[in-house]
Amino acid sequence: MVKVVAGNWKMHHGPAAAERFFSRFSPSVEVGAVRMVFFAPDLSVAAAARAVRVPAEFGVQNIHWEAAGALTGETSAEMAREAGATLALIGHSERRHIFGENDAEVNSKVRAAVRAGLVPVVCVGELLEERRAGRLETVLRRQVGAFARSLAGVPESMVAYEPVWAIGTGETATPEDAAEAHGIVRSALGDLAGVPVLYGGSVKPGNAAALMSAPDVDGVLVGGASLDPDVFARIAEAGAGVRPGGPS
Ligand code: 13P
Repeated sequence: MVKVVAGNWKMHHGPAAAERFFSRFSPSVEVGAVRMVFFAPDLSVAAAARAVRVPAEFGVQNIHWEAAGALTGETSAEMAREAGATLALIGHSERRHIFGENDAEVNSKVRAAVRAGLVPVVCVGELLEERRAGRLETVLRRQVGAFARSLAGVPESMVAYEPVWAIGTGETATPEDAAEAHGIVRSALGDLAGVPVLYGGSVKPGNAAALMSAPDVDGVLVGGASLDPDVFARIAEAGAGVRPGGPS
């Protein structure tokens, strides 16, 4: 399985900036050596998909679980798909901790993504106080347990392990920390053996290869370092150079 290198632009890069990004984004990777995904703001997905010049897939950063309705400001999975998205990020820590999304809502969104034919990319991860209290495994098993059954029989899905204390802080999990957490996620996924598990949290060009070489780390989900086309190209190149079992 090739590594997944996904960028989460968060609330950055409107349509014009997305076009500028792709006018410069040209990683030195062979076609098929890495799977590139961009989670763009809703309003930029179509412009990004038009402007891209390398093989890449696009996703939205959040969806509502209803297909349509009187839900001002929300976007449904079906609408995201119509705009050119083929994946949807669900349950990102910023959604959980800033907007108060809970496990049941995350599961409803996973089901909505599946209904619309979007690949759900579900985020899990512990707070620093949970890690310090020795609750890493309990938290990850609870978060994964809330949606795992909704992925059974689904053609494609992914999970992203993003320790909340490592997001946007410059603090990164060590490859050993990542391997431990990914092992827990994989075990909590049970029969869902083929689901790639990505690592996110202060991934940079300098640590990307080591993280992607860790056991059970199938790729990365990159925030800040995905905003600059040259920096993100170096992470894509790192992903293309990593073969299962270690760096090539
Ligand atoms: P940073 O790479 O900026 O830490 O963000 C990680 C993240 O939240 C990706 O979804």
